This record gives sequence, structure tokens and C-alpha cells, in this order.
Amino acid sequence: MGQGYGKDFESDEGVNVSHQPGIHELDLTRRQVFKCSGAAIAMLMGSHSLGASTATGKPLGFTPVPVSTSDTLVVPAEYIAEVLYRWGDPVGSIAGAPLFKPDGSNSWEDQSLQAGMHHDGMALFPIDGNPRHALLAINHEYTDDGLLHVSGMSDWSANKVRKSQAAHGVSIIEIIERQGQWHVMPDSRFARRITANTSMLLSGPASGHDLLKTAADPIGTRVLGTLNNCAAGDTPWGSFLTCEENWNGYFSSSAQPTAAEKRYGLRHKGWGYRWHEYDERFDATKHPNESYRFGWVVEVDPMDPTQTPIKRTALGRIKHEGATTTLAKDGRVVVYMGDDERFEYLYKFISRDIVRPGGYAANKTLLDHGTLYVAHFEANGHGRWLALVQGENGLTADKGFATQADVLIHTRQAADVVGATPMDRPEWIAVHPHTGEVFATLTNNSQRGQPGRGVDSINPRADNIMGHIIRWREGSAKGNDAAATEFRWMQFALAGDPNAEQTEHRGNINGDMYGSPDGLAFDAGGLLWIQTDVSTSAMHQGAYKNMGNNMMLCADPFTGETKRFLTGPRGCEITGITFTPDRKTVFINIQHPGETASERSDPDAPKAVSHWPDGPQGGRPRSATVAIRRKDGGMVGT
Ligand code: FEO
Ligand code: CA
Ligand code: CA
Repeated sequence: MGQGYGKDFESDEGVNVSHQPGIHELDLTRRQVFKCSGAAIAMLMGSHSLGASTATGKPLGFTPVPVSTSDTLVVPAEYIAEVLYRWGDPVGSIAGAPLFKPDGSNSWEDQSLQAGMHHDGMALFPIDGNPRHALLAINHEYTDDGLLHVSGMSDWSANKVRKSQAAHGVSIIEIIERQGQWHVMPDSRFARRITANTSMLLSGPASGHDLLKTAADPIGTRVLGTLNNCAAGDTPWGSFLTCEENWNGYFSSSAQPTAAEKRYGLRHKGWGYRWHEYDERFDATKHPNESYRFGWVVEVDPMDPTQTPIKRTALGRIKHEGATTTLAKDGRVVVYMGDDERFEYLYKFISRDIVRPGGYAANKTLLDHGTLYVAHFEANGHGRWLALVQGENGLTADKGFATQADVLIHTRQAADVVGATPMDRPEWIAVHPHTGEVFATLTNNSQRGQPGRGVDSINPRADNIMGHIIRWREGSAKGNDAAATEFRWMQFALAGDPNAEQTEHRGNINGDMYGSPDGLAFDAGGLLWIQTDVSTSAMHQGAYKNMGNNMMLCADPFTGETKRFLTGPRGCEITGITFTPDRKTVFINIQHPGETASERSDPDAPKAVSHWPDGPQGGRPRSATVAIRRKDGGMVGT
């Protein structure tokens, strides 16, 4: 998602007014960043095997694609891309499930059995270890109500609200590959839609807190639905983590928001979803605690369509971008998370207990117990993880943190108190499969460099419209344990055009141009995949004039070499990357093709910008999951 409806709802909504000092003074200049050779990086990071390896094929051996402004999905000549699951396609659970109606006239009941809108993060769960038969869990982040209904947002009604709510949430689909082609199983016992009205539990330390209690749920443990599910993650025990990002935009209030609400961007009229007009749960004046029941990471067992999804409060309440897991050396799980807003923070959670064999059933409460940390970067390439624990680091009752639940419900304020480092919009986080080194995208921050918001070595560019990617290694150079509370960091890449005249917009000399990195993932061989989300209002203009549509690139983390792998159709962002275990297929999501600068389509001209993927005969552009593979059956990225 860009920023929600309209440019004036940009991501300073829930502005961090704490004015945390950054790490001041650039000790690592831009030039130094670019001059770092792979060998120097390896030395600094204490790395010996950062290089990407593949069993077959040369890493980055594909023919890179040029920038594009065409309304097509373009992949290298030696690859094929096939659309798998579009908004409105039947989820596959029920024989005779409703087909998509190209004029947008499907009912809300239909929509609750079809793919939701605006696909985002996803994860693949192979069935019985088979790389050709799996479940795919897909987030549906938000809706463009101009496209969703026949007449857009005119004649606004309870049924339109219900349809918008049904187009949110998650799809679980069963997919199978036959003769090289992926299909959605039409009658799957696993298929499931989770929506903004699916019953869920709140677990962990904040469960049952007074702020989580409502008239409908006086004990504060049960909530309906999940909202604005952005990036995602999977766990070593096979569950899906879906993350609530810009949930604040759904709540409206006639009263002035409180300071605590403002810190999370609640505002009078929300972001224009207008749910509160027909569903008073989203009227914050009538139900002031409902918004506290959002902003969490939600755990779903994809293998059990009857499982009640669980909001894990131990992982904190922020605008969760994603949740990337890895294992500490002693077997505890570590979850990396970004809070995607200007000047917000990077977090990690370390479980109290170790992961046990036996899948979800054996690890059902693992994410309810552990310690949440926030990152503090120092200017000398070192950093520390600061515990967000009641009674420690200044998190005391007199500051409003009487219990651990207070800390978790007000995670942002707690992070302010302990001295976290404000970042340029943390998006996805990826862990190298061999070295454990962690990479994170900072998508952009046009307000960096303004008074009180100076550049520092981890966020080194003022008016950072292009964004950058950072990397760190946990613990000492040799220790490399994800549970460490100290780390050593470096820049990986400043995004931009390597040939840009203006230094602020100039990208890494070792790669193709791109801006606003967002999606980020390693494949099992150690190639780093980067997906971009330049907002539609910035695309094709100013410093983005020659950069074309949003794209996906592939990088060698050792050399920094970065090549453009695909370009998307008009008005889309590229997101949601996941791979088959044999690395022969990469799945991605094309989100909001055809989006206009206002982020809400004109229902009378739904194809004004794009008719992808159905072409001129189709009724309207549709977000979709796409399967991409090599024509010769080799590994992707080679
Ligand atoms: Fe939903 Fe931060 O992207
Ligand atoms: Ca994102
Ligand atoms: Ca984004």
C-alpha cells in the first residue's frame, strides 16, 4: 500500500512527536558506502560466505529487463509468468463458488468466498514436503472502493461496507503444479477466507487489559477481524503471521483523538473507508477501545481451516509491516518487525521457550511469552537492542507503564522512552539463509533532514525520497546469534538512479536503478530479491521520471550487484514474494494495478490506467498472484 487514500494521508499520520535524537553525524559518508567492496563488507561484517550460491545456473544469470511504462508484466526472456489468483477468483472451498463479475456486481456474500482485493504479503506451506503441492496464504491489504462496487462509493450502504470488509483479510488457497503450470485446487478442504469480520482471539500479556474491553467483548479477549494486512511471515512450526499495518485509517471519531490515539494516527474521519457509517464498531466515539484491538501480529494455522486466528500481543502494537522469523542458536524463535511510518522503529521479539517439533500444536503458545526489543543504532556501526520490559529502561508506572500490557499496548511510546532510533519507514526484513545476516528496507522519508529530524549514519540522506536498504549482523562478528542484544550494521544500498545528477537521488553504482524498496526476501540460495513501491502520486515524475513502473530486482548480497528482474503493469506495486522449496517457482503479488494518484478509482472509468491482467475485454484491473519460473525448469534468479 502506498499511504492510504490520498496524498494528505501520508505516513506521518501517527506522527512520532517524541523527537528521539537520531544517531548524529555522518561518520559513514555516502561515498564510503558506495566504495565498499564486497571483500571490505565481508571483512567488516566478519563474513566468510555471504555469496549467493546456486546448485544449478549462474546467480543473476538472467537477462535483465529495462524500465517500462507499459501495461504489462515483463520478465526476462528465459522466464514465463502466469497469473494464478486474481481478486474475485473463487477461493476454492465450495463447489459452485461464485465467479467474478467483471462489472463489480458480486454481492458481499460472493466476495467472502472469493479472493480479496489488493494482495500483499504471502507465504507458501508445502503439503507433505512436496514442492509442487502447497497452501498459499495471501494477505488482502485494503480496498479501492471505486473498483470494488458497481457505482463506487456513491449510494454508500451497509452492503457496500460489508463487501469492503469481506475483501480484506487473508486467503488460504491450495495450489498444485501440473506439467509446469500452477493451478488453484477448485474444491480444497483447506481453502479459507479470513475477513474483517472473522472471529479471533487476543492472547499474550495484553489480553484482557481494560483498553481491550468493549461492549461486545467485556473481557477483552475476542475480536472480530483483521485489518490492513500488509507484509507477513511464516514460522518454523508452519504457521502464517499476518500483520496489521494502517489499521488506524478505518476508525472515525467525532471527538478529538487523545494523545495516545494521535501517536498511532487516529483522526476524525479516518482515511475515507466510511465503515463507521454502517458499522458502529468503527465509530471511535461510540466504541473508543475497539482500535486498541488492532495493530497486532495475527497467527494463523493454514493447515486447519477451523482454527481461530490469534492476535499475539507479546509482539507489540505498532503499524506492523511484516514478521520475519529465524532461530536463535539455542532454538528460541526470533521475530523481526518494522513499524512503517516516518521516524518509526525496528523491533525484534525473542521467545522465552524453544521451538518444539510437532508443528503448530506443539508451539501454540510460543509467541505469547518472550521479550520485545527495539533497535538503537550508533554512529560507529554498532547497535543495541533495547528491551521493552516494564520496570526496565525507564518504563515505569509514573511514565504510564504500570504493567507489561501497558508497554505492549503503547509500544511506540515505550520505544520513545527507551531511546529507539527513528528510521526512514521500516518495511520488510529478510534474514540470509546461510549467514544469519539481517537486511531491512527503509522505503523513503521526504521529511528526513527537517529541523529536529536530522540525517544520521543509518538514515543518511535528507529528503530521502528514494529509500535505502540496511544490513546488520547480530552479536559479535563471530558470534552471529539472533538472540544477541548487540549488533554491527552497515548500509547495503542507497536506492536511486546510479546516473542521477543530484547526489541525493543517486543509486548504488553496482546496480540497475530503482526507488522505494519495500518487499525484501532471500531465496534458499542466498539471492536477495527487492520489490518496489513508488507511490502512484510520485511515479513517472521528478526524480522518478525515467524509472518507469514498479519493479522487482535480484541482488547478490556479497557483491551488491543488482539486476532488474521484472517490471509491473501500470499503477501497481510489486509485493508478496515467496518461493517453492526447490526454487523453481517464485510467486509474487501485483497489487493495485491501475491505481490513480488519488488511490481511488473512478467507477465510470475503471480501466483508465490499466486493464491488467484480463486485458481490454476485462471489466477492471485486478490485483493478482503470479507464478514465475524458468522455461527450462531451472532455478529462479539464475
Ligand atoms: Fe503496506 Fe508499508 O506497506
Ligand atoms: Ca509494504
Ligand atoms: Ca510501501
